[in-house]
Amino acid sequence: MNKLVDKYGRQITYLRLAVTDRCNLRCQYCMPAHGIDIVKRQELLTYKEMYRITRVLSELGVDKVRLTGGEPFVRKDFVNFLESLSFNKNLKEINITTNGALISKHIEGLEKMKINAVNLSIDSLNREKFFEITRRDVFPQVFQTYQDLLKSNLKLKLNVVIQSGVNTNEIIDFIELTKEDKVSVRFIEEMPFNGKGIREVKEVWNYNKIIKTINSHYDQVESLVSKKSSTSKNFKIKDYKGSFGIIPAFTRTICTDCNRIRITATGLFKNCLFDDGVFNIKEFIRNGASDEELKQIFISTVHKKPKNGFIAEANRGSNSVSESMSTIGG
Ligand code: 5AD
Ligand code: SF4
Repeated sequence: MNKLVDKYGRQITYLRLAVTDRCNLRCQYCMPAHGIDIVKRQELLTYKEMYRITRVLSELGVDKVRLTGGEPFVRKDFVNFLESLSFNKNLKEINITTNGALISKHIEGLEKMKINAVNLSIDSLNREKFFEITRRDVFPQVFQTYQDLLKSNLKLKLNVVIQSGVNTNEIIDFIELTKEDKVSVRFIEEMPFNGKGIREVKEVWNYNKIIKTINSHYDQVESLVSKKSSTSKNFKIKDYKGSFGIIPAFTRTICTDCNRIRITATGLFKNCLFDDGVFNIKEFIRNGASDEELKQIFISTVHKKPKNGFIAEANRGSNSVSESMSTIGG
C-alpha cells in the first residue's frame, strides 16, 4: 500500500479537518470582536468532498481524524456527516473539537457512533471571565455540556488556552477538576493565530512557566508516558482520577514525531499549522481529479512536509502568522 511518509521518515496517520470557518463565539485570542471575514458557502468543501478526501487519505494510512472548525456544530448537518464518516472502516478514531455551546442535545447520538473523544474548549470556570474571553455569555451551556460529556461514554479532554493576565490564576482550579472527574485537562500555549486581533502579552506563559507554576503548588506531580506523536506532555496528581497535559503549541517542542496534516474548511492542504497552505484540494477536485491523481498529489505534498513549525513559519511567503484558528482549523 502507498503510504504518506515525509523525507524525515515520519508517517502521516492523522488528519485534522475543519468543516467550517464560522463560529458562534468570538474568543479574544482567535478573532477580533467583529469576527473574521468568513468565506462564501461555495468556497467551503462540501460534505461529499470531505468524505472523499478522507476516504482517499484513509487508503493511504490515515486512521485518525479530528473534526474541527470554527465550531463544527455550527455547520448544518454536521452530525449526519459524522455518521457517514463512522462507516469508513479504515478509521480507528474519530474525534471532535468543539466549544460545546451547541452540543448537549447531540451527545446521545454521538455515543452511538464511532466517536472516541471530544475535546471541549473551556478557558475559564468563571462565568464573567468566560464571557470576557469568548465575548458570549454561554458559560452555563458549556459547563452543562462538560457535565453531560462526563456521564457519557465518550473520552473527554478540556482545552484551556493559557492567556497572560487573563486565566493563569485558574490553572490550579482546572487541575482540581481532575481530582474527582475522569477528564484530561490540557493547557495550551497561546499562539498568534488571532485573525489580526490585537493582543497585549504582559508575560510569556510558555510550557516551562506553566509546569513550574503547577510544581510549586503540588508535591506529587507524576509524569505519564504518552504516545510518541502526542501533542501534549502529560501528568497527573497522585491519587487524582483525571490527568493534565501541556501543549507547547507555540514553543513547538513536539515537531520531531509529528504525524499530522490539516485541511482547512476551504480545502487548503497544510503540512504544518505554521505553513501557509501548500495546495488547494478543492480546485483540484472540482477540476475532475481522479482518486489516483489525488493520492499522488497527497504523497508528493507530504514528502515536502517541513521538519518543524519554525521552518514552516520561515518558509511562508511575505504573510506573517496572523490568520485566525477559526480559518485554519484548531
Ligand atoms: N492559540 C492557542 N490555541 C488556540 N485555539 C484557538 N486559537 C488559538 C490560539 N491563538 C484553540 C482553541 C480550541 C482549539 C480549536 O484551538 O482554544 O481549543
Ligand atoms: Fe470559536 Fe474556537 Fe475561535 Fe473560540 S477559539 S472563536 S470557540 S473557533
